[in-house]
Amino acid sequence: MKVLVLHGPNLNLLGTREPGVYGRVTLAQVDRMLRDHARHRGDTVECRQSNHEGQLIDWLQAAQRERFAGVVFNPGAFTHYSLALRDAVAGIQVPVVEVHLSNVHAREEFRRHSVIAAVARGQISGFGPRSYLLGLDALASVSRRPISRR
Ligand code: DQA
Repeated sequence: MKVLVLHGPNLNLLGTREPGVYGRVTLAQVDRMLRDHARHRGDTVECRQSNHEGQLIDWLQAAQRERFAGVVFNPGAFTHYSLALRDAVAGIQVPVVEVHLSNVHAREEFRRHSVIAAVARGQISGFGPRSYLLGLDALASVSRRPISRR
């Protein structure tokens, strides 16, 4: 199984960005953890990061064409307001799992609402870098045992 991992805005700063919230692990280390985890499962991952909404939309749209079995997606702050990203997720057949390092439900009020969650296969939030690995596991179980999207 080939999985696309998309990191949204500001996640390139992991390791130095608000370490009290997001920890000291860098994005390169998260990507390495993902590659190792995927390899142990017999899967492969491709990891991409962008601070730009349009770029993330282009990658979501291309995921099907590029034959990814699923997408593990951390939309960053776009989670809370990007209807364009929501529509991109809704518009593709490839299953998308929304992940967050922090527990967005235990933070500020504005983080409790995700415009993506309703069109994603599910949401994993609050396990630090492990959220991404759990996202990969979730996609693997979905692709083994397909469930209709809604
Ligand atoms: C985040 C949570 C978002 O609210 C925030 O804007 C981020 C990171 C997380 O992974 O915990 O940039 O998506």
